[in-house]
Amino acid sequence: MSQREQWSSKLGFILAAAGSAIGLGAIWKFPYIAGQNGGGAFFLIFIVFTLLLGLPLLLAEFTIGRSTQDHAIASYRKIAPGTKWHWIGILGMVTCFILLSFYSVIGGWIIIYLFKTIKGDLNGLSSAQYADVFGATISNPTISLIVQFLFMLITILVVAKGVQKGIEQASKIMMPALFILFILLVIRAVTLDGAMEGVTFLLQPDFSKVTSKTILEAMGQSFFTLSVGVSVMVTYSSYLPKSQSLPRSAISIVGMNLVIVLLAGLAIFPAVFAMGLEPGAGPVLLFNVLPTVFSHLPFGMLFFIAFLILFLFAALTSAFSMLEIIVSVISKGNPNGRKKWSWIIGLAIFAFGIPSALSYGVLGDIKLFGKTFFDLMDYTVSNILMPLGSLLIAIFVPLKMKKTALYEELQKGSNLKKGLFETWFFLLRYVAPLLIIAVMLDVLGVW
Ligand code: PFF
Repeated sequence: MSQREQWSSKLGFILAAAGSAIGLGAIWKFPYIAGQNGGGAFFLIFIVFTLLLGLPLLLAEFTIGRSTQDHAIASYRKIAPGTKWHWIGILGMVTCFILLSFYSVIGGWIIIYLFKTIKGDLNGLSSAQYADVFGATISNPTISLIVQFLFMLITILVVAKGVQKGIEQASKIMMPALFILFILLVIRAVTLDGAMEGVTFLLQPDFSKVTSKTILEAMGQSFFTLSVGVSVMVTYSSYLPKSQSLPRSAISIVGMNLVIVLLAGLAIFPAVFAMGLEPGAGPVLLFNVLPTVFSHLPFGMLFFIAFLILFLFAALTSAFSMLEIIVSVISKGNPNGRKKWSWIIGLAIFAFGIPSALSYGVLGDIKLFGKTFFDLMDYTVSNILMPLGSLLIAIFVPLKMKKTALYEELQKGSNLKKGLFETWFFLLRYVAPLLIIAVMLDVLGVW
């Protein structure tokens, strides 16, 4: 993908940006974090953060990217030459590096299940046995490293080739298919005996469970699922033609993401309660619960295989964006550089991810700040680096870009009303920075 190549269609950009957004965050991470944070109240706070912070920030990144038509670092340099603001882009690259190092571990877990289901290893097991088999598999260092490597290998090969068109084409089929399978899954999950308790858990807020940690995690989760704060969306929107409406794109991506989060919650929690499983089981939650739900469907294992393929695809399209942003900056659009750097960086990410992959086995007892290496990386990215990047973008855009130019950019391809523009600007300039700082201070115990 050269610097100036544009998305082949209007839909292409939406699919790629939505592909970056929709991934493990909505499907794997949301249920487990919500499960650990009391369910409904977390969900509600997550929605509020997504609308008040995530959406305005996504639009801010789009505005930076499309107005400069350049990648994550050069775009900041173009807007604020001779300043240090391009460090936002560098921070984003570092964040994506760490992020992909543990993201690929979970991607590997999907591959494990795919192999196991295809081989028939899961046939006829009880819900408790699924968890045992899964736990035993991911604690095996050889297996977890091989599958993590496989996930990285696919990511490297795709980013090295720059096959943006291929991904666009595939997304057109895979994403709608994922939606449909999810709906099927939800229908099955909510009709299980005892499922209503799970629906209540997700949809009925219990604010007595809300702590500063819940609020921080809900904020981190809203940035994580939208891929904001790391300049990925700056890079993606730099390939976007001027004829496309940025607000409409941002709203549709946020909307799709919220729907997938809701579907994931409604697929998982009813089943968790119906089976008497533990909602706070942590990162393994989805993997322990899903086979049970599928086993209650006719042709369950076939559906499970289809689901895993689509889920893997969703995870990969997010992974591509993380590697893409680093490679696009370092290779500066030179096709030979792209290939070489995809491999170098991809393999470095794999190496850095090894302790995360082993956190569910041989390194499980080694804790830093009370967390396994995996949890520490996840926490650092979601709750420190992404909020920090988002904070800086929220400060940067109103400070360094002219308000009239912003309005003009946002009006291209759309007829954005002045009032809505002013609301966006206000949210970005005042609400986002204050809220992010307040949440971070709260966690540090300042209040
Ligand atoms: N939004 C992705 C997900 O929810 O799985 C994660 C992600 C992708 C975060 C790309 C950041 C990013 F740059």
